[in-house]
Parts: sequence; C-alpha cells; structure tokens
Amino acid sequence: MSIVEGKMASANIKQVAQHAGVSLGTVSNVLNRPDLVSPATRQRVLDSIATLGYVRNDSARQLRAGRSRTVAIVVLDVSNPFFTDVVRGAEAVVEEAGGMLVVCNSGEDADRETRHLDMLEEQRVQGLLITPVSDGRHPRLDAFVAHGIPVVLVDRGSGHPSRCSVAVDDITGGRLAADHLADHGHRRILYVGGPMTIRQVADRHAGAAAALTERADGVRFDVHETPTLSVAAGRQAADDLVALPASRRPTAVFCANDLLALGVLQGLTAHGLRVPHDIALVGYDDIEFAAAAAVPLSSVRQPREQLGRTAAQLLLEESGGSAKHSHRHVVFQPELVIRASSARERKRARS
Ligand code: RIB
Repeated sequence: MSIVEGKMASANIKQVAQHAGVSLGTVSNVLNRPDLVSPATRQRVLDSIATLGYVRNDSARQLRAGRSRTVAIVVLDVSNPFFTDVVRGAEAVVEEAGGMLVVCNSGEDADRETRHLDMLEEQRVQGLLITPVSDGRHPRLDAFVAHGIPVVLVDRGSGHPSRCSVAVDDITGGRLAADHLADHGHRRILYVGGPMTIRQVADRHAGAAAALTERADGVRFDVHETPTLSVAAGRQAADDLVALPASRRPTAVFCANDLLALGVLQGLTAHGLRVPHDIALVGYDDIEFAAAAAVPLSSVRQPREQLGRTAAQLLLEESGGSAKHSHRHVVFQPELVIRASSARERKRARS
C-alpha cells in the first residue's frame, strides 16, 4: 500500500475520439471489434491513436474475460457538476475496456447509500467506485471486497488496507483558500460547509484553520455548518450571514464547494451586498459554472476528470487479477484559481 503523487495521464480514449471526430464507442470498437468499423474510419482512428501517443490500458482487457462488464459508481449528489466530470473521466476508461458504467446517487443520505450498495452487491458488478457519505469503512464495502468485488474510494483519501483511493489533498486546498483571503487583508473569515461528517468538508476546514492559526495575524475564523453541499444551503447561509449585525459579519467567506459558493453569491446579491467589495468569496472544485458566474468565482480546483479516470484505472487493474496490483492511495494536489470574487485587496481590515 503506498501513497503516490497523482500524475497527468497520457492521451485518453476521449481525446482520441475528439481528434478522429468519432464517438467513444467507435474508438472502443476499433480497439475491441474492428470488424464493426469501416476501413476508412478505422484508419482515421488508428492515425489519431498514433498521433496522440495513446497507450491502451492493458489491464482493461481483463474486463472482457467473461466476467461482468458493469462498473458502478455511487456519487454523493448527481446534480453537482463536480461528479458529472468525475463520472465522465471514469466512463471513458470503463468504455475503453468494453464495459459499462452505472451511476447511483446517494443524495448525501447514508440509508439510501446502503440500499444502493445492497442492490449492487446482488448484481455482482465488476467493481465499485464510491464517494461515501460516511467514511470509507462502511461494512457493506467490506462485503464487496470479501466477494472479490474491488472497491475504490473517489474524492476521498483513505488509509484503508483493502481498497484503493483517489483524492485531492483537501488540507492543502483549505490552506490555499485561507492564505489567499488573509493575504488580501481579511481578518473575519467564515467557513460555510457541511455536514462536517463528510471527510472532505472537515479536511478543507482543518487546512484553512491550521493556515490561519500559523499566520498569527489575528484572523477570526468561524464556521457556519450547512445540512447539505448545495446551492440552496448556500443561499440559506447568506440569509443567516446578512442577519448578523454589520460589525459581526465576515469580510470573506470560504465555501466547502462551488455549489455552496454560488448559493452564497446569489443570496448576498439578493440582499444588495456586493462581492467582493462587501464580502469576498472562494469556492472549491472549480466546476465550469465557477468561471461563468455573475461574479466569476475564485475556487480551489480539483482535477475532476482525472480523479474519475485514475479511480477507474485502479479498479480495472485490481479486477483484472493482476499480480502486480497493490492497493494505492493516489493524492492529487489542488490549485487555487483566483477570479473577481476575491481578487480585491481589503483596504481596512476590520478587527
Ligand atoms: O465529495 C464531497 C464534496 O467534495 C462534493 O460536494 C464535491 O463538490 C467535492 O468538492
């Protein structure tokens, strides 16, 4: 079991399809069922493979070795574009192997997650990718492993001995956001996120708190815990924040993900407050809508499709029974993307 730094992969099947101007399925057929593809199209795809230096995932061939060809992914919130991008990355790898990816939504609800896991175990899927509601020690996950069904945790670090994981260093991500806001003169910063039982939410807060404590420049760092990681919860947090006396309001808000931040932005604007002039704002994920927001959102970027691709590659390697497979915990580093929502220096840092 080892911790490895996430590295950019070589070209993938999606890039080959885009380069050749064909669907993912056509590329998969060229690789697995070339007789189904016209010679001209086949040659065009092969030329793209050569041009891009695409290297097929050898362990993926195992997926067609007469076993189930269905991989399941259980996400926390299917309406969150973060997971859409993660699924897109995983899907490309699974389809390249000639398999199918089935998406299940836990809705951040532990009972619903358990019901999905029970049904997926009955289906004897080839493997399971999951961003768990609770920590990665759910007893159902042990049952999957006991039945020879590999499990990979996604967007969740784990030291668990019997499963791989792919995550982003959320502690560092929290530090990046907090240091950025403190560097811009903010001395009252609010963390909006929850439930704090979700490991990523807790880690982002812990990283921010550690960074601000080490700075020792007297930043007040409060927490507003939300029931979900949604736009609606962000709007509600803005309503609660505006209800505070002006002297107690934060001058900056760091949100556990971009959906919360977009909700906070919407709520503050509805109350006539300006971002960043009155309150600076930073989100997390850097989903496509962050840059497109009415006030472009600063955000801690996660390599979303890469998370999905890497998790699926680990799963296929393990499910292929490769003797070379050893459980790995891949950790990518986050990156702070600064945009208008937090780019303004705070002239007078309120104590
Ligand atoms: O996985 C928990 C959260 O982390 C999700 O809401 C997603 O936005 C990511 O940031």
